[in-house]
Amino acid sequence: MIGGLNQQNNPQQRRAEGVALWLGIDVGGTNIKGAIVDIEAGKLNGQVLVEPTPPTANPGDVAAATRRIAVAMNWNGPVGIALPGVISGSSLRHAPNLCASWEQTDALSGLRAANGGNAVLINDADAVGLAELAYNQTDLATSGLIIVLTFGTGIGSALLYNGTLVADTELGGLSGSRGRFEEVASGRVISNESLTPIEWAIRAQPFFDELQAILNPSRWIVGGGLSDNFNRYSSKLKLSKPISVARSGIHSGIIGAAVACGTSAGTGDLR
Ligand code: BGC
Repeated sequence: MIGGLNQQNNPQQRRAEGVALWLGIDVGGTNIKGAIVDIEAGKLNGQVLVEPTPPTANPGDVAAATRRIAVAMNWNGPVGIALPGVISGSSLRHAPNLCASWEQTDALSGLRAANGGNAVLINDADAVGLAELAYNQTDLATSGLIIVLTFGTGIGSALLYNGTLVADTELGGLSGSRGRFEEVASGRVISNESLTPIEWAIRAQPFFDELQAILNPSRWIVGGGLSDNFNRYSSKLKLSKPISVARSGIHSGIIGAAVACGTSAGTGDLR
């Protein structure tokens, strides 16, 4: 349930004062989370509101949940929405953690701001990548290829190449000897199967090895639910290149969605 309705700063007033505030919402297979983000500072401007993802996970119910978050935030402006799938015209493809009806034409059309205004859509892992490009202090513009992986309900990916986001990759769909990596080594699998960090690393190591061999990244960045326990898990991997946690941890998707909105950098239509 949404909580803390009265505890938000008045975002409309702060925006009128010139603060670069945007609402970012991160739709996951388990929860839908939203917060108002100061995109100049790259940080949350208040608390994160969370709604459980509706059991149907269908476009209408998810859209209604995103609107409830916007209303609870007293937010009337455009909304950035990060989605767990590939935005393709008016449909969402490869979204196994939502439901099949997202593949239908116009499935995305209900994702609008609370007052019917614009929504900017972006893949959830790409949102994390965008947040890294916007705020990571490291010089990403000359880093060659960086692979961002998010371990949550699924495994998302974003490629950052010399400071540019290469959107809509689905590296979690690669398969190893146990099956698709997303199905054997995601954050959800860790929790459902109570995997220890070593047990997880045994499953995830071939994923990193395969990506290292075929894409030759210079660095790894990890986001999603695993960000919270990043060191416990990442320390069990054997990697030849540095790995770090996303700058804003589990909030990176929300922040990236807000950046997509504030800069119109989403991959979905600004409608
Ligand atoms: C989806 C990706 C998404 C990832 C993380 C996968 O199931 O296909 O698009 O980034 O989950 O949510």
